[in-house]
Amino acid sequence: MFNAALYKQRRNKLKQSLKSGLALFSANQLMPMNYSDNTFHFRQDSTFLYYFGINDPGIAGIIDVDNDRDILFADELAIEDIIWMGRVKTFREKAAESGIEEVEPISSLSALIRETQKKKREIHYIKPYQAETAFKMMELLDMNRSQLLTGESRELIRATVNQRSVKGAEEIAEIEKAHDITRLMHITAMQKAAPGVIESDISGAIEGIALSGGAGVSFPVILSVRGEILHNHSHSNIMQDGDLLVNDSGAESKMNYAADITRTFPVNGTYSTRQKEIYEIVLKAQMDAIDALKPGIMYRDVHLLAARVIADGLKAIGLMKGDMEEAVQQGAHALFFPHGLGHMMGLDVHDMENYGEDWIGYDDTIQRSEQFGLAYLRLAKKLEPGFVLTVEPGIYFIPDLINQWKKAKKFENFIEYEKVEKYIGFGGVRIEDDILITQDGKRVLGQPIPKTVNDVENMCRSI
Ligand code: GLY
Ligand code: MN
Repeated sequence: MFNAALYKQRRNKLKQSLKSGLALFSANQLMPMNYSDNTFHFRQDSTFLYYFGINDPGIAGIIDVDNDRDILFADELAIEDIIWMGRVKTFREKAAESGIEEVEPISSLSALIRETQKKKREIHYIKPYQAETAFKMMELLDMNRSQLLTGESRELIRATVNQRSVKGAEEIAEIEKAHDITRLMHITAMQKAAPGVIESDISGAIEGIALSGGAGVSFPVILSVRGEILHNHSHSNIMQDGDLLVNDSGAESKMNYAADITRTFPVNGTYSTRQKEIYEIVLKAQMDAIDALKPGIMYRDVHLLAARVIADGLKAIGLMKGDMEEAVQQGAHALFFPHGLGHMMGLDVHDMENYGEDWIGYDDTIQRSEQFGLAYLRLAKKLEPGFVLTVEPGIYFIPDLINQWKKAKKFENFIEYEKVEKYIGFGGVRIEDDILITQDGKRVLGQPIPKTVNDVENMCRSI
């Protein structure tokens, strides 16, 4: 945990933003995997972690704005629990570490909620994403499912997004701890890859690194020689000489801050000429996009800048044609780069996305586009100092998409389908780093992980 003063300060700031009412925060629940005592890996709710820092399931927290009270609702372990789980810190001790003096049994939460409802005071909450939490909240708030989902507090979401979007120095330090582990995951993957190796040999090994160094992976590992499948979680391919391997993976620090890095490298240790050509285009798009980052710039403009570099690069090797400014404006490049350039990152790898993507990446000044490709952009708004975000352009040759567009004669004026078809089977290239927006520019977080053609090849060959 961070120190108690920080959690108090975060809660006080929230009280100032909300002005009145009471805010209810539910921790996540332990979820059964195949029977109730055999559970999935527990991951605390990030909003709960942010305001309370306590990493236990099934508890709840109240921030009472009107009465300036912070209360933890949790049941201390009984001797029956201690027999199986050992003696751990009490909730009273954990609450003290979070700067909270009031600890009540969970059973008394419903009385407080009833009393608050009777007095017609506002109860702020964010709609739950776990079914078990939803059931508990429906009971607690005496709401049906649709009332619960529509009754969330926009003020609470807005205030929390404002607070959590700007990272403090202690949070950046945590993200960089996640990077240290993630760097080892990526270097290990480069060293282990070879023709004949199964993808799961590597995905399993790097997930182990995330678990031994931190709190596990920040999202399920994406690792595949079929890198054109953007989120390929299947790890069953046997790597072949000449394949490119996409490794999009990251660890969480022990305090659950994320890292999210992608590298794409040759299984045999040497990029072919064709692979190098595509790789260099993606690398230039990524580096130019990072160069452009600074407070005040719209992230959508940075996305479009990367799209333009990709389109220009593809034109130079004959896969696109015509006016590339026009092509990007119309979205023709999205055949190759169909996703957004990046997203916010922090306690969640896609930070705060449980509130709804548009709360995080869009605001009153910018609306989500409906154009294929651009519509997937998670972050579009103006950047501010303290934001942490990813920059992750890619080029992919997706057979079904190429075939569909060609059949529909889509953007025939911009795309050289005859040549593009020759790349079916190539896979994909994505390169991703995590960036902090500073007062006067940006800083790429973590120690460098090989990224240039030379550096990657050298790492792949070093064992
Ligand atoms: N690294 C996975 C993603 O950003 O969606
Ligand atoms: Mn990412």
